Amino acid sequence: MRSVAVLGSLLALVVAGVASARTNHPAAAKATVITVTAGKPSEFAFTLSKSSKVPSGSVTFNVTNKGAVPHDFEICLTAAKAATANSCKGKVTPMLAKGKSASITVTLSKSGTYEFLCTVPGHAAAGMKGLLGIGVSASAAGSASGLPSGSTSSSGSTSSGSTSSGSTTSTSSGSTASAPTAPTSFPAGNATNGKSIFTGAGGCGGCHALAAAGTPAGDGPALDGTKLSVSTVESIVSTGGGGMPNFGTTLSAQQIADVATFVSQSSQ
Ligand code: HEC
Repeated sequence: MRSVAVLGSLLALVVAGVASARTNHPAAAKATVITVTAGKPSEFAFTLSKSSKVPSGSVTFNVTNKGAVPHDFEICLTAAKAATANSCKGKVTPMLAKGKSASITVTLSKSGTYEFLCTVPGHAAAGMKGLLGIGVSASAAGSASGLPSGSTSSSGSTSSGSTSSGSTTSTSSGSTASAPTAPTSFPAGNATNGKSIFTGAGGCGGCHALAAAGTPAGDGPALDGTKLSVSTVESIVSTGGGGMPNFGTTLSAQQIADVATFVSQSSQ
């Protein structure tokens, strides 16, 4: 009987040991905590307190949405060379409304770069993604797409609106793959095509009410009655600002002209 009791307490010890090893990782593989801000420095970007040479092992992401629209944060669990995917298999936080926070913890034991992204349709495609380097530097592949605003944060790293080559299927004529820049001249637009861009996933209808598109009120101003000219809308869409995302590198010049023609005609 006595040996059974001893065995029992031994077992209890072992179980306790395993339990504490799980939460309190052994000193060798110290858990890393990374602060992630969604919606900063622009609506469709993340800022990470650390994204390069992160020690392998357990990584906790404390994510806060400082943007205006809901976002989440997914860390992809298979190493990737570039942040080109707009979806992946990984661990994701719950959807975070403006101002909300959540944490996720993953174990990344293999060195390499891992993509992170926002899973809201259209957000990763608009640039809301980047690379995390486990044991390696992420900067080379991460935010190196030559975006002018790439140097906003001094300590952390910023992934802002950069589209790596090959990541967008919708960009066609007139956009360069290596260093995307917003188009400055536009062909004649087609309002019918523009309507599908407006109402499509990741388009404009999620934020703007417009009777001709049948979209409800959102985070952006209602566009009915704004009497905007085609060229004004083209310039707003290609540069963004003030909570309005920048579509200059995610839509082609033709697509911007199409959507601007549709909005202008519908807003008179
Ligand atoms: C994430 C939400 C969001 C999306 C998506 C979005 N917008 Fe906006 N948009 C805004 C906000 C917010 C403003 C107001 C910006 C400001 O006040 O400076 C705005 C402003 C505008 C304006 C100026 C309105 C005015 O009265 O001056 C136009 C035009 C516009 N957006 C068109 C579009 C088009 C076209 C698309 C799709 C290609 C689009 N927006 C997608 C949020 C959005």
